[in-house]
Order: sequence, then structure tokens, then C-alpha cells
Amino acid sequence: MKGGVGKTTVTLGLASAAANAGESALVVDLDPQGNASMGCAVEQAPFTSGDVLADARPGVAAQAIVPSGWGPAVGVIVADRALEHRNLREGDHSELRLRTSLATLDRQWSIIVIDCPPSLGELTRNALMAADAVVVVTEPGYFALRGAQQAVDAVSVIRSGGNPLLREPLIVVNRARTTVADHRSRISELRAAYPHLVWGTEIPERNAVAQSEGAGIPIHQWDSPAGRELAGIFDALLTDLRYPFGQAHRQRPIPRFT
Ligand SMILES: Nc1ncnc2c1ncn2[C@@H]1O[C@H](COP(=O)(O)OP(=O)(O)OP(=O)(O)O)[C@@H](O)[C@H]1O
Ligand SMILES: [Mg+2]
Repeated sequence: MKGGVGKTTVTLGLASAAANAGESALVVDLDPQGNASMGCAVEQAPFTSGDVLADARPGVAAQAIVPSGWGPAVGVIVADRALEHRNLREGDHSELRLRTSLATLDRQWSIIVIDCPPSLGELTRNALMAADAVVVVTEPGYFALRGAQQAVDAVSVIRSGGNPLLREPLIVVNRARTTVADHRSRISELRAAYPHLVWGTEIPERNAVAQSEGAGIPIHQWDSPAGRELAGIFDALLTDLRYPFGQAHRQRPIPRFT
């Protein structure tokens, strides 16, 4: 709900981490502001995420993917302003449009990251219905923490309703300045309220974030101490999202009931 907390930054950081590991990432920009598209150095595309939601045939999203300016490992479905009109519920099951249109794409991309707008309307609902993991990004301030609570509640509603496979949210604190007493107390407050949900590492406030985003360069290629620090944090976040029960479980075969 609270704007500017770092949702797009985390989206881009995760895509950058996947690409840097030699994998592929698809960035779906579901925010009419189009910041994730810009961060991936893509301005326009023949088809946008708004077109995909309007069409919503199974797998149709594949037709809207364009290569990012970061290279072919990262594809993008860009947003445009018209997407704003799709933030309201329309007809039955309009919250399933993204999930349907992305069908089968999860087999072609190592990771699909969906950037949400700063509202809990139909666009974010579509993202939550399509996802299997969700990051609630917040910053250490009163209004941001209230926003995080509302996002966690919205995820619970989706988990107990339409998407029971969606995992519990991972709350990530961004723009942390632990030298600021108020930040420290807000972070402890959040950890006390959601002891199992708040990620162990905080993303620090660093100029490299806005600089790399403005230049359309992935954080893993931003050659500075802060760039390397942030890259390491996004690598760890990607790993923890993929293996929520720890790396040790990654080799374990998935039990099958025959
Ligand atoms: N850790 C950080 N350190 C410094 N600047 C940051 C950090 N995280 C985000 N920013 C900057 O803050 C601004 C807002 O971040 P971002 O766009 O990621 O937020 P958002 O939640 O996606 O915003 P919106 O709600 O508008 O979509 C951007 O200019 C970004 O570069
Ligand atoms: Mg954003």
C-alpha cells in the first residue's frame, strides 16, 4: 500500500541475481508506472501486460515478452499507463487472468518475478493468484509498517481462498539505516510482530540502488563496494525464496503418492 518502499528494487535485484547465476528471469511489470520495465532498460513493446490481462488466453503472455536491455537471459513484459484501467474487478474470475496467461511459462524461465503497484487492487490480486512466493517489502517507518500489515493480511486472504499453494509472505526490510535509533526500534517492532516472516537480513540504504536503476544496469554489474554488497543480499534472497526450508533440502526428492 505504501509507495516507494522498494518493491521494484527487489524485483530487479532478484532478476539480476538469477541472470548473474547464469539462469533466466522473466520480469512481469504489473505497475502502470512502468518502473521495472525502465529499470530493465526497456521502454516500449508491441504488447504490454495490460494487453496480456485483456486477452488472458492460456499462455498468451509468451507473445508479450521482449528481451531486456540487460541481455537475453532477462525477458520483460512491459507495463503501460493503460494498465491502470485493469486495477478494478471485472466479471467473474478476473483475478485469474495473469495466472492463466502465464500458463506453461514457468517451465521456460528459471524464475518469474512480478512487480506490483502500490495498491492491493485487482493487479496485485492477479499477481498473488499467479505466484507461489511473495515478498512484502517495507521500510522502517510507521506508515510503511502499517502497509506491510495490510499486505500480509491480503496474502492470508488469498492463501485461504483462491491460491492455497502460495507460501507465507517473506517480509523484507529495505532502506534500513541501523545507525538511526528509530529504524532500529521499528525493525524490532516488526520482528516481534512477525517473528517467522521477517527476513533475517535488512537491505541497507545505498546510493548505488537509484544510480544503477537510473542507468538501466543490473545491480550485479554495478562495480562498487555498495553494488557488490547489494548483489550478495539479492543472491541470498533468491536462494531463500527458492529453498524456504534451507539449502540442505534442495537435493531431497519430492515425495510422490502413487
Ligand atoms: N535500499 C535503497 N537505498 C537507496 N535507495 C533506494 C533503496 N531502495 C529503493 N531506493 C530508491 O527509492 C525509490 C523507490 O524505490 P522503488 O521504486 O523500488 O519502490 P517501489 O515500492 O517500487 O515504489 P512504487 O510504490 O512507486 O512502485 C527509487 O528511486 C529507488 O531507487
Ligand atoms: Mg515500483
